[in-house]
Amino acid sequence: MSKKRVRKAVIPVAGLGTRVLPGTKVIPKELLVVVDRPILAYVVEEARAAGIEHFVFVTGRAKGAIEDYFDHQVELEAQLAAKGKTAILDQLLKELPKAGEMSFVRQMQPLGLGHAVWCARDIIGDEPFAVILPDMVMDAEVSATKQAIDAYDQVGGNIIVVEPVPHDQTHQYGVVALEGQDGRLNRMSGMVEKPAKGTAPSNLIVSGRYILQPEIFALLASQEKGAGNEIQLTDSMFRLMETQSFHALEYDGVTYDCGDKIGLLRANVGLALKNPELKDAARAALLPFFQ
Ligand code: G1P
Repeated sequence: MSKKRVRKAVIPVAGLGTRVLPGTKVIPKELLVVVDRPILAYVVEEARAAGIEHFVFVTGRAKGAIEDYFDHQVELEAQLAAKGKTAILDQLLKELPKAGEMSFVRQMQPLGLGHAVWCARDIIGDEPFAVILPDMVMDAEVSATKQAIDAYDQVGGNIIVVEPVPHDQTHQYGVVALEGQDGRLNRMSGMVEKPAKGTAPSNLIVSGRYILQPEIFALLASQEKGAGNEIQLTDSMFRLMETQSFHALEYDGVTYDCGDKIGLLRANVGLALKNPELKDAARAALLPFFQ
């Protein structure tokens, strides 16, 4: 098993966004705006803060706008320059990726998360990597991906970021089982994708950040369909547990599930109220709804 540095992240962006239709009919769900920027911008910032140097986006049909978002918008930049709007122009330019820092690979059929991650195998190669599910915007003092990489540096193997949810919601997620619980980082004994109601081994869900070893790709290649008739990442991770260690990390931060209407609303409110320039105005605008 390799103990190399985590440099690359796979970000699956091929999903349809059915939970927020019709909002995602022509806009990729990953580009829905939270406060003043697309969901994906938060995720890329989080990964950068963890030292990720290369981003592999697994895209699909009708997701071309994602590539455009991470490129120059020449006419807009020229117009902003002509109007002297230098502050916002500088910010747009500052947030652009460096040349060669992003790859885009196409998942041609919606066969599941496991298949999406497998599509990135050649770009990842033989090194550990992060998987970041962009629906889950994670607001944390120390970037959630960094917390996962720090845990990996400590114990090696594979790391799954988890968080507790009410027991009646576990059937919507991947759920982990722990060998024992002592602090936030615990060795896992199992995991299951979308357990039937009442059968989950715990209330700790797989919340969308993973550090995985490249041996997962061979398992994904031969994998059969699982929950929802999709090739599930969880099922291959479970098989990899036979030969490699898996630790669950209960991260320190707040998760917003932006693939969901209420999650998107929570993210807008929560992040606006934390934004130093907006928080007072946001609070004043929201208060009347609660009086
Ligand atoms: C995926 C994963 C699941 C995880 C969830 C987090 O499910 O398969 O293990 O708990 O993301 O959002 P999906 O949301 O694609 O059904």
